[in-house]
Amino acid sequence: MAKKKTILDFMEMKDKDEKVAWITAYDFPTAQFAEKAGMDMILVGDSLGMVVKGYKGTIPVTMEDCIAHCQDVRRGAPNTFCIGDMPFGSYQVSDEKAVESAARFLKEADMDAIKLEGGERVASQIKAISEAGIVVFGHIGLTPQSSGQLGGFKAQGLTVDSARGLIKDALAVEGAGAQAILLEAVPPEVTEFITDKLDIPVYSIGAGLPCDGQLLICGDMLGMFQAFTPKFVKQYADVAEIEIKAFKEYIEDVKNEEFPKDEHVYHIKESKEKFERLFKEF
Ligand code: KIV
Repeated sequence: MAKKKTILDFMEMKDKDEKVAWITAYDFPTAQFAEKAGMDMILVGDSLGMVVKGYKGTIPVTMEDCIAHCQDVRRGAPNTFCIGDMPFGSYQVSDEKAVESAARFLKEADMDAIKLEGGERVASQIKAISEAGIVVFGHIGLTPQSSGQLGGFKAQGLTVDSARGLIKDALAVEGAGAQAILLEAVPPEVTEFITDKLDIPVYSIGAGLPCDGQLLICGDMLGMFQAFTPKFVKQYADVAEIEIKAFKEYIEDVKNEEFPKDEHVYHIKESKEKFERLFKEF
C-alpha cells in the first residue's frame, strides 16, 4: 500500500515537475476506487450539492453535508491526502468563524487540508486558518460560490484586466499562507504565468497544462452528472449509460421472472415434506 502523501510531497512533486492527479469524491465506494487507482489526492468538493444532491449550484450546501461526505470519503480512502471544501457561509463572515469551520474538517472528518474560494477578499481568513496550523488550498478563477457575481459559470482571466485581478488574487492567496492554489476555468497563458510566479503548487481544473497537476469532478469524468458538461472536461467513462442499461435489464428480468434464479436463493436444510407439514400448521 502506498504511503499517504503530505503537503511536503506535493511541494517536492512541484520541484521535480511531477504532475499531481486528483478528483472529487463524495462517497465511500468512489473514494475506495480512487485510492485503489493511486489518486494523489481527493477533494470532497461542495460540488456534492450538484453532483450528489441535485441542487442547481453549491450555495445550499451546509457544513453538516460537507462533514458527513468527508467522513464517508475518509473511510473509503484512509491512505489518501483528502481536502475538505468549505461551503458558502462557513468562512465569509469572520476569521473566527473560518477557523472554527476549518477545524471541524480536521477534528470530525480527519481531513488533511481545507479549500476555500476567493483571492484578496478572503486573504484574512486564509491567514487565520493557516496560523491555526491547518493546510489551506486557495481557489480562484471561476469560483462557483460567487457565480452570481460572475454572471454564471464563466471562464475568468480572458482579458488583461481580468487576468490582472487573478494574478493579484493568486499573490494574495500565497501571501496569506495558503500552501496550494487551484485555478478554475482560466486560460493556459495566465495559468503558466501564475505557476512560474508562485512558490506553492498551482493546480488546474479547466486551466490547461502548464501547472502542477489536474483536478476533475468525478461526476463529470465518469459521465454521471447529466445537467451539463463544462468545456474542460474529458469524459473517461459513461457510468450513466452503464447504470441505465443495467437497470433496464433488471426490470426486464423481474417482469419476465428471469431473476432470481436458483443460484440467487437460499436452500432449505431439511426435507420438503417437513416444510410442508410446517406450512399446514398455519
Ligand atoms: O466543489 C468542488 O468540487 C470544487 C471544484 C469545482 C474545484 O470546488
